Amino acid sequence: MAFYYDEPARTFNEYLLVPGYSSEQCIPTNVSLTTSLVKFKKGEKCPITLNIPMVSAIMQSVSGEKLAVALSKEGGISFIYGSQSIEDEAAMVARVKAHKAGFVPSDSNISPEATLGDLLDLKARTGHSTTAVTVDGTAHSKLVGLVTSRDYRPSRMSRDLKVKEFMTPASKLIYANKDITLQQANDMLFEKKLNTLPVLDDDGRLLYFVFRKDYATHKEYPLELLDAKKRHLVGAGINTRDYAERVPALVEAGVDVLCIDSSEGYSTWQAQTLKWIRDKYGDSVKVGAGNVVDGEGFRFLAEAGADFVKIGIGGGSICITREQKGIGRGQATAIIDVARARDEYYKETGIYVPICSDGGIVYDYHMTLALAMGADFLMLGRYFARFDESPTNKVIINGSYMKEYWGEGSARARNWQRYDLGGAQKLSFEEGVDSYVPYAGSLKDNVNMTLSKIRSTMCNCGALTIPELQQKAKLTLVSATSIVEGGAHDVVLKDSVATTDRFPK
Ligand code: IMP
Repeated sequence: MAFYYDEPARTFNEYLLVPGYSSEQCIPTNVSLTTSLVKFKKGEKCPITLNIPMVSAIMQSVSGEKLAVALSKEGGISFIYGSQSIEDEAAMVARVKAHKAGFVPSDSNISPEATLGDLLDLKARTGHSTTAVTVDGTAHSKLVGLVTSRDYRPSRMSRDLKVKEFMTPASKLIYANKDITLQQANDMLFEKKLNTLPVLDDDGRLLYFVFRKDYATHKEYPLELLDAKKRHLVGAGINTRDYAERVPALVEAGVDVLCIDSSEGYSTWQAQTLKWIRDKYGDSVKVGAGNVVDGEGFRFLAEAGADFVKIGIGGGSICITREQKGIGRGQATAIIDVARARDEYYKETGIYVPICSDGGIVYDYHMTLALAMGADFLMLGRYFARFDESPTNKVIINGSYMKEYWGEGSARARNWQRYDLGGAQKLSFEEGVDSYVPYAGSLKDNVNMTLSKIRSTMCNCGALTIPELQQKAKLTLVSATSIVEGGAHDVVLKDSVATTDRFPK
């Protein structure tokens, strides 16, 4: 007979935290959100810690190089998506490791043979007013010119006019050589009264831009996550098929941590992948595994050698796995079960294997709940997809700005390896959707707002660190009627009243 759980699987909305005692020390500036990313032995230091408990999802629509740099500056880490060629993924990792603060790889590039119409379309897509004109229209080929809004007048010029006819040619540009420092570049911007300084290699290929408008933002990032050589930390997704080629390429590119990306991780394929990595690299290459939703799955992956274990099946915002296959578990119950197994494993073996809650975070308070329930850190997709730095297009839908966001199991991503069960190399049916999420601005502003809520709630619970929160948190289930009490109720919200009614003529 099948096994039946006594309790239903629950999710975040069904829980609330009950405050504990707050002493004078319990103020947000005293809260540390440092947390362990990979396993460590009792009494030893964790080899990689995060300064904030956030990592970005292993997804095409989330974790590109720009988001990776922005998140590392705030103290978290991105996992660059694995659903791309090995060369492209390794190159992305290498670019994050090579990133120099203030030096920005060009996002808007066009070839001299393209037309004004093409340029206007590009500008609408990227929102950038400076476009590099390069020989083949890519970000790092030879620079032949620059186009800014001062170079053309759409109302007076034909859309068919070639870019080379109206660009400012390279011969008239002031540019810098690759060895320039940020301070020297900023001095040049001011001395020569420039808005943009292209930085070129010895063969005239475009490396970066330095923008005058960024000058004020070249400030300190107190929680920045850097390695011993002051480079940003970055992770990358791998799969259980091509790891023998992909892992060495990523390691060579300088990746700091890997994660096996799979919708369901309690499988021999994950154990085989972990074994291959341990045989080849010992403990020097860090690799997480998942996803699982119970203690049994956790123990399997911990024993197979995972450096951390990821929790979550079917709870992601773009996920339709539960509808398609009828598998999964409410995220709150899954975390509570896995956290118990992690603590038991630690008691038995003296090895602490961090756990990551992946998917289904909607409100900021869900993050605090997940941490209180035992998660060491959180993987977020929808949350980061809304920001400027995510790699997708910003579009206007019904008058509002949106960003595109699609699942790795959607036909758009075609990431069949994530759903691989050893059969044919194809995506047999979709487990994710293609969608929009409301555009929300910069990563920095949003992350800082979210973290201030987490710090504040932790103070209410009398906790100054994440491990302390996990020990002290008191969680209660909520009844359906008390959920109504939790929102604004029995008042008429000003936003819902038409202005003409409020101020009659
Ligand atoms: P979100 O933060 O709720 O948007 O969830 C993101 C997580 O959903 C990712 O980290 C993945 O674990 C998971 N995910 C990504 N793509 C898909 C998909 O197409 N189907 C199901 N789950 C997905």
